Amino acid sequence: MTEPVTVRLPTESDTLHFGRKLGGLLRPGDLVLLAGPLGAGKTVLAKGIADGLGVAGRVSSPTFIIAREHRPAPGGRGVPLVHVDAYRLGGNLAELDDLDLDTELVDAVVVVEWGEHLAERLSEDHLLVRLARTEDETRIATVVPHGGWAHRLRLG
Ligand SMILES: Nc1ncnc2c1ncn2[C@@H]1O[C@H](COP(=O)(O)OP(=O)(O)O)[C@@H](O)[C@H]1O
Ligand SMILES: [Mg+2]
Repeated sequence: MTEPVTVRLPTESDTLHFGRKLGGLLRPGDLVLLAGPLGAGKTVLAKGIADGLGVAGRVSSPTFIIAREHRPAPGGRGVPLVHVDAYRLGGNLAELDDLDLDTELVDAVVVVEWGEHLAERLSEDHLLVRLARTEDETRIATVVPHGGWAHRLRLG
């Protein structure tokens, strides 16, 4: 693990933009874990990632759906996105395993909200993004590369 990188995101559109940049460099098999409290901007960031990948379907946090697959859209990067909101799993490993994300992860990018301390088991190579709120609407993203990610971020 290398040094975390912090990014200031003053507005929602900054968070979207940051997600788009991230989505532009993700490859099949990449796992991204999003952490931070309710309202921190995890779903906004996931939307940006979906935009950057160029996938179909609206990214949201539906109450009854835990994982949603977004197919590649025309003009996108041709990589599907599996967006998981693990909030309702409450840290339940058996339920996480039931989602078969390890199979999905071969061809898709998997982004897991509330994934910290839970979804690391899917791949030791993962990118953790922790989002924190400040007194104003600014969010601070702390990007923590694990495994092979340390290398990829250094290489830009
Ligand atoms: N800088 C910012 N980055 C991201 N979201 C922001 C920012 N400022 C305000 N917001 C608002 O905060 C909320 C974040 O919600 P959401 O992404 O659903 O959070 P989470 O998925 O972490 O619970 C949205 O209503 C968004 O408009
Ligand atoms: Mg959310």
